[in-house]
Amino acid sequence: MNGSSSTALAWSHTSGSRKPRIVLAASGSVAAIKFGILAESLSEWADVKAVVTTPAMHFIDKATFPAHVKLYSEEDEWSGWKKLGDTVLHIELRKWADALLIAPLSANTLAKIAGGICDNLLTSVVRAWDFSKPVFVAPSMNTFMWDSPFTVRHLTAIEELGVIIISPTSKKLACGDIGVGAMAEVSIIDSIVRFSMFKCDRPSNSAAPGTPA
Ligand SMILES: Cc1cc2nc3c(=O)[nH]c(=O)nc-3n(C[C@H](O)[C@H](O)[C@H](O)COP(=O)(O)O)c2cc1C
Repeated sequence: MNGSSSTALAWSHTSGSRKPRIVLAASGSVAAIKFGILAESLSEWADVKAVVTTPAMHFIDKATFPAHVKLYSEEDEWSGWKKLGDTVLHIELRKWADALLIAPLSANTLAKIAGGICDNLLTSVVRAWDFSKPVFVAPSMNTFMWDSPFTVRHLTAIEELGVIIISPTSKKLACGDIGVGAMAEVSIIDSIVRFSMFKCDRPSNSAAPGTPA
Protein backbone atom coordinates (compact mmCIF):
# COMPACT_ATOMS: atom_id res chain seq x y z
CA MET A 1 0.00 0.00 0.00
CA ASN A 2 1.32 3.40 -0.92
CA GLY A 3 0.06 6.76 0.26
CA SER A 4 0.78 10.29 1.24
CA SER A 5 1.26 11.42 4.81
CA SER A 6 0.17 14.95 3.88
CA THR A 7 -3.59 14.37 3.82
CA ALA A 8 -5.57 14.77 7.03
CA LEU A 9 -8.74 13.00 8.08
CA ALA A 10 -11.85 15.18 8.05
CA TRP A 11 -13.62 12.49 10.06
CA SER A 12 -11.85 11.40 13.21
CA HIS A 13 -12.53 8.30 15.28
CA THR A 14 -11.89 10.48 18.32
CA SER A 15 -15.01 12.54 17.56
CA GLY A 16 -16.90 9.33 18.27
CA SER A 17 -20.42 10.52 17.47
CA ARG A 18 -21.00 8.69 14.20
CA LYS A 19 -19.62 6.06 11.88
CA PRO A 20 -17.28 7.07 9.05
CA ARG A 21 -19.09 7.68 5.76
CA ILE A 22 -17.64 5.89 2.78
CA VAL A 23 -18.48 6.22 -0.89
CA LEU A 24 -17.69 2.79 -2.29
CA ALA A 25 -17.35 2.77 -6.07
CA ALA A 26 -16.95 0.03 -8.66
CA SER A 27 -15.73 0.30 -12.23
CA GLY A 28 -15.88 -2.29 -14.99
CA SER A 29 -13.43 -4.94 -13.85
CA VAL A 30 -14.54 -8.53 -13.49
CA ALA A 31 -13.70 -8.25 -9.77
CA ALA A 32 -16.87 -6.19 -9.42
CA ILE A 33 -18.58 -9.55 -8.87
CA LYS A 34 -17.28 -9.13 -5.28
CA PHE A 35 -18.73 -5.63 -4.91
CA GLY A 36 -21.74 -6.74 -2.87
CA ILE A 37 -19.56 -8.69 -0.45
CA LEU A 38 -17.29 -5.68 -0.03
CA ALA A 39 -20.28 -3.37 0.55
CA GLU A 40 -21.60 -5.76 3.20
CA SER A 41 -18.24 -5.97 4.91
CA LEU A 42 -17.66 -2.20 5.05
CA SER A 43 -21.21 -1.52 6.21
CA GLU A 44 -20.50 -3.45 9.42
CA TRP A 45 -18.45 -0.47 10.65
CA ALA A 46 -19.21 2.42 8.25
CA ASP A 47 -22.12 4.17 6.58
CA VAL A 48 -21.74 3.20 2.93
CA LYS A 49 -23.16 4.59 -0.29
CA ALA A 50 -22.27 2.77 -3.49
CA VAL A 51 -21.54 4.19 -6.95
CA VAL A 52 -21.14 2.08 -10.07
CA THR A 53 -20.17 2.73 -13.65
CA THR A 54 -22.35 1.34 -16.41
CA PRO A 55 -19.79 -1.38 -17.36
CA ALA A 56 -19.52 -2.40 -13.68
CA MET A 57 -23.23 -3.25 -13.68
CA HIS A 58 -22.47 -6.21 -15.98
CA PHE A 59 -20.73 -7.88 -13.02
CA ILE A 60 -23.01 -6.86 -10.14
CA ASP A 61 -26.09 -8.82 -9.17
CA LYS A 62 -28.57 -6.22 -7.94
CA ALA A 63 -30.73 -8.96 -6.43
CA THR A 64 -28.03 -10.00 -3.96
CA PHE A 65 -26.56 -6.54 -3.36
CA PRO A 66 -27.12 -5.52 0.30
CA ALA A 67 -30.47 -3.75 0.51
CA HIS A 68 -29.26 -1.39 3.25
CA VAL A 69 -26.56 0.10 0.99
CA LYS A 70 -27.89 2.69 -1.47
CA LEU A 71 -26.63 1.86 -4.96
CA TYR A 72 -26.26 4.79 -7.37
CA SER A 73 -25.81 4.21 -11.08
CA GLU A 74 -25.30 6.55 -13.99
CA GLU A 75 -29.06 7.15 -14.43
CA ASP A 76 -29.34 8.50 -10.86
CA GLU A 77 -26.95 11.35 -11.66
CA TRP A 78 -29.37 12.68 -14.26
CA SER A 79 -32.78 11.51 -13.05
CA GLY A 80 -32.34 13.46 -9.80
CA TRP A 81 -31.72 16.75 -11.58
CA LYS A 82 -34.58 18.56 -13.31
CA LYS A 83 -33.97 22.26 -12.92
CA LEU A 84 -31.60 24.89 -11.60
CA GLY A 85 -31.45 24.71 -7.83
CA ASP A 86 -31.80 20.93 -7.67
CA THR A 87 -28.97 19.10 -5.97
CA VAL A 88 -26.31 17.43 -8.10
CA LEU A 89 -25.60 13.86 -7.04
CA HIS A 90 -21.81 13.77 -7.45
CA ILE A 91 -21.47 16.98 -5.44
CA GLU A 92 -23.79 15.68 -2.70
CA LEU A 93 -21.80 12.44 -2.46
CA ARG A 94 -18.56 14.38 -2.28
CA LYS A 95 -19.92 16.56 0.53
CA TRP A 96 -21.36 13.57 2.42
CA ALA A 97 -18.33 11.29 2.37
CA ASP A 98 -15.38 11.04 4.72
CA ALA A 99 -13.56 8.69 2.38
CA LEU A 100 -13.75 7.24 -1.12
CA LEU A 101 -12.89 3.64 -2.01
CA ILE A 102 -12.84 2.52 -5.64
CA ALA A 103 -12.78 -1.28 -5.68
CA PRO A 104 -12.36 -2.55 -8.26
CA LEU A 105 -10.55 0.18 -10.19
CA SER A 106 -10.46 -0.61 -13.91
CA ALA A 107 -7.63 0.40 -16.23
CA ASN A 108 -10.05 2.77 -17.94
CA THR A 109 -11.19 4.56 -14.78
CA LEU A 110 -7.58 4.69 -13.53
CA ALA A 111 -6.59 6.44 -16.75
CA LYS A 112 -9.51 8.83 -16.52
CA ILE A 113 -8.93 9.91 -12.94
CA ALA A 114 -5.19 10.28 -13.62
CA GLY A 115 -6.10 12.75 -16.35
CA GLY A 116 -8.88 14.52 -14.47
CA ILE A 117 -11.57 13.30 -16.85
CA CYS A 118 -15.07 13.34 -15.38
CA ASP A 119 -17.56 11.86 -17.83
CA ASN A 120 -19.66 9.75 -15.46
CA LEU A 121 -20.90 9.74 -11.86
CA LEU A 122 -17.85 7.99 -10.42
CA THR A 123 -15.23 10.14 -12.12
CA SER A 124 -17.23 13.30 -11.35
CA VAL A 125 -17.09 12.40 -7.63
CA VAL A 126 -13.32 12.02 -7.96
CA ARG A 127 -12.93 15.27 -9.93
CA ALA A 128 -14.89 17.18 -7.27
CA TRP A 129 -13.11 15.40 -4.40
CA ASP A 130 -11.56 17.18 -1.43
CA PHE A 131 -8.17 15.49 -1.36
CA SER A 132 -7.74 16.25 2.33
CA LYS A 133 -10.09 13.25 2.70
CA PRO A 134 -8.64 9.82 1.91
CA VAL A 135 -9.10 8.02 -1.40
CA PHE A 136 -8.34 4.31 -1.64
CA VAL A 137 -8.22 2.36 -4.90
CA ALA A 138 -7.94 -1.37 -5.53
CA PRO A 139 -6.90 -1.85 -9.17
CA SER A 140 -7.99 -4.98 -10.97
CA MET A 141 -7.11 -5.81 -14.54
CA ASN A 142 -5.50 -8.40 -16.80
CA THR A 143 -1.72 -8.72 -16.38
CA PHE A 144 -1.15 -7.30 -19.87
CA MET A 145 -2.99 -4.14 -18.82
CA TRP A 146 -1.25 -4.04 -15.42
CA ASP A 147 2.18 -4.33 -17.11
CA SER A 148 1.39 -1.60 -19.62
CA PRO A 149 3.56 1.52 -19.35
CA PHE A 150 0.33 3.50 -19.11
CA THR A 151 -0.40 1.88 -15.74
CA VAL A 152 2.84 3.15 -14.18
CA ARG A 153 2.16 6.67 -15.46
CA HIS A 154 -1.40 6.70 -14.22
CA LEU A 155 -0.59 5.22 -10.81
CA THR A 156 2.20 7.76 -10.38
CA ALA A 157 -0.22 10.58 -11.20
CA ILE A 158 -2.83 9.50 -8.67
CA GLU A 159 -0.20 8.79 -6.00
CA GLU A 160 0.86 12.42 -6.33
CA LEU A 161 -2.69 13.33 -5.27
CA GLY A 162 -2.29 11.21 -2.12
CA VAL A 163 -4.43 8.33 -3.37
CA ILE A 164 -3.74 5.12 -1.43
CA ILE A 165 -3.21 2.19 -3.80
CA ILE A 166 -4.15 -1.26 -2.55
CA SER A 167 -1.99 -3.42 -4.76
CA PRO A 168 -3.43 -6.24 -6.86
CA THR A 169 -2.29 -9.77 -6.25
CA SER A 170 -0.88 -12.47 -8.50
CA LYS A 171 -3.04 -15.49 -9.27
CA LYS A 172 -5.01 -17.17 -12.05
CA LEU A 173 -7.17 -14.39 -13.42
CA ALA A 174 -10.77 -14.65 -14.61
CA CYS A 175 -9.57 -14.82 -18.22
CA GLY A 176 -7.36 -17.84 -17.38
CA ASP A 177 -4.03 -15.98 -17.55
CA ILE A 178 -1.74 -16.19 -14.53
CA GLY A 179 -0.07 -13.04 -13.22
CA VAL A 180 -0.49 -9.80 -11.30
CA GLY A 181 -3.79 -8.02 -11.71
CA ALA A 182 -6.34 -9.66 -9.43
CA MET A 183 -8.04 -7.31 -6.99
CA ALA A 184 -6.79 -7.64 -3.42
CA GLU A 185 -8.98 -9.84 -1.22
CA VAL A 186 -12.11 -8.18 0.18
CA SER A 187 -10.88 -8.82 3.74
CA ILE A 188 -7.56 -7.09 2.98
CA ILE A 189 -9.28 -4.07 1.42
CA ASP A 190 -11.68 -3.81 4.35
CA SER A 191 -8.80 -4.05 6.85
CA ILE A 192 -6.67 -1.41 5.13
CA VAL A 193 -9.52 1.09 4.89
CA ARG A 194 -10.74 0.46 8.45
CA PHE A 195 -7.18 0.60 9.83
CA SER A 196 -6.58 3.91 8.03
CA MET A 197 -9.86 5.47 9.13
CA PHE A 198 -9.54 4.53 12.81
CA LYS A 199 -5.85 5.25 13.11
CA CYS A 200 -4.81 8.57 14.68
CA ASP A 201 -2.37 9.44 11.91
CA ARG A 202 -2.69 8.98 8.18
CA PRO A 203 -0.73 6.08 6.72
CA SER A 204 2.68 6.97 5.40
CA ASN A 205 4.51 5.05 2.71
CA SER A 206 4.70 2.02 4.95
CA ALA A 207 2.54 -1.03 4.44
CA ALA A 208 -0.30 -1.83 6.81
CA PRO A 209 -0.31 -5.31 8.37
CA GLY A 210 -1.40 -7.87 5.83
CA THR A 211 -0.90 -5.54 2.89
CA PRO A 212 -0.16 -7.41 -0.31
CA ALA A 213 3.20 -6.66 -1.94
C1 LIG B 1 -15.87 -9.60 -19.68
C2 LIG B 1 -15.03 -8.38 -19.49
C3 LIG B 1 -14.17 -8.31 -18.40
C4 LIG B 1 -13.39 -7.17 -18.20
N1 LIG B 1 -12.54 -7.15 -17.13
C5 LIG B 1 -11.78 -6.05 -16.93
C6 LIG B 1 -10.92 -6.01 -15.80
O1 LIG B 1 -10.84 -6.94 -14.98
N2 LIG B 1 -10.19 -4.89 -15.62
C7 LIG B 1 -10.26 -3.82 -16.47
O2 LIG B 1 -9.58 -2.84 -16.23
N3 LIG B 1 -11.08 -3.84 -17.55
C8 LIG B 1 -11.85 -4.93 -17.78
N4 LIG B 1 -12.70 -4.95 -18.85
C9 LIG B 1 -12.77 -3.78 -19.75
C10 LIG B 1 -13.61 -2.68 -19.11
O3 LIG B 1 -14.89 -3.16 -18.73
C11 LIG B 1 -13.75 -1.51 -20.10
O4 LIG B 1 -12.48 -0.92 -20.28
C12 LIG B 1 -14.75 -0.48 -19.65
O5 LIG B 1 -14.75 0.58 -20.59
C13 LIG B 1 -14.45 0.07 -18.27
O6 LIG B 1 -15.31 1.15 -18.02
P1 LIG B 1 -15.36 1.88 -16.62
O7 LIG B 1 -13.94 2.13 -16.20
O8 LIG B 1 -16.10 3.14 -16.89
O9 LIG B 1 -16.11 1.03 -15.67
C14 LIG B 1 -13.47 -6.08 -19.09
C15 LIG B 1 -14.36 -6.14 -20.16
C16 LIG B 1 -15.11 -7.28 -20.36
C17 LIG B 1 -16.03 -7.32 -21.56
